[in-house]
Amino acid sequence: MGYTLAILGCGVMGQALLSAIYNAPAASPETKEFYPSKIITCNSSKGSAGNVEELIKSFGKSANDIEVETTFDDNKRAVNEAQVVLLGTKPYLAQEVLNSVNVSEKLLLSLVAGWTIEQLGEYSQYVTRIMTNTPAKFGYGMAVLSHSARVSNHNKSLVKELVGNIGDCIELPEKNMDAATALVGSGPAFVLLMMESLMESGIKMGIPLKESKQCAIKVLEGTAKMVEKTGEHPSVLKHQVCTPGGTTIAGLCVMEEKGVRSGIVKGVEEAAAVASRLGKK
Ligand SMILES: NC(=O)c1ccc[n+]([C@@H]2O[C@H](COP(=O)([O-])OP(=O)(O)OC[C@H]3O[C@@H](n4cnc5c(N)ncnc54)[C@H](OP(=O)(O)O)[C@@H]3O)[C@@H](O)[C@H]2O)c1
Repeated sequence: MGYTLAILGCGVMGQALLSAIYNAPAASPETKEFYPSKIITCNSSKGSAGNVEELIKSFGKSANDIEVETTFDDNKRAVNEAQVVLLGTKPYLAQEVLNSVNVSEKLLLSLVAGWTIEQLGEYSQYVTRIMTNTPAKFGYGMAVLSHSARVSNHNKSLVKELVGNIGDCIELPEKNMDAATALVGSGPAFVLLMMESLMESGIKMGIPLKESKQCAIKVLEGTAKMVEKTGEHPSVLKHQVCTPGGTTIAGLCVMEEKGVRSGIVKGVEEAAAVASRLGKK
């Protein structure tokens, strides 16, 4: 008999985790125990609960026999029934939502940016912070995990198994969480700015929008795959593209002169600084 997972706040990120866990391939005999037999999704409005219901209808049967119940305005009952609680509200609502339920004996998984283990520790000693991103909705997400000292090895493995279904996940010390919030959580927006810029360069020089977009997507996807598959440092691969006196080095020099690199580094740092202030509001 499995356990029940309650998703407190099932919006964009809650639904990404729900989809990944529900649609995970059949677990091995060793990992079967990490999957819930039931997921209860919690929203405050009927409309949002209806959206989750529609999402579930679009799924096939769960390979791990997971049953899903969608609810609204029923947090207390859902949390009482659950052994594991995933908090997926916006940061400014986290306090109100946590104050209205009792998670003290539950494993509390938090998607909430800026909320520290110490702050979450007022509600449960068993806390894992998860920082993930929107590509998780499509199985291409990244997640960074950070556990409180009281999380057992069994529960660490459980979280890794469940969250790994969104794409990839790693564990880091909590001191890295604000940086992870910026790099992983906000990262897609930064990459989309890069994609948009590449597309606009194509359009500016006469390549139609559709084709510019197609080229930009494949350049970003192909480059990421090349770095992953070769294991090389990006600068090594970058120099392989640079013919002496050629086009690529000329373009790179102008980008460096315009401060593209320091703009990206400082932008990610600024996002991390904002993340560090989120839980303090
Ligand atoms: N979006 C991102 O790219 C991203 C990336 C990294 C981390 N995060 C973190 O993920 C968390 C969720 O973000 P999100 O983008 O998924 O937000 P979201 O789409 O707004 O989802 C939040 C959900 O919380 C529900 N909710 C609000 N009040 C509630 C209550 N009293 N009880 C139960 N549910 C309630 C809302 O449902 P109703 O509509 O019914 O109120 C909504 O579906 C945030 O803390 C954020 O820091 C987000």
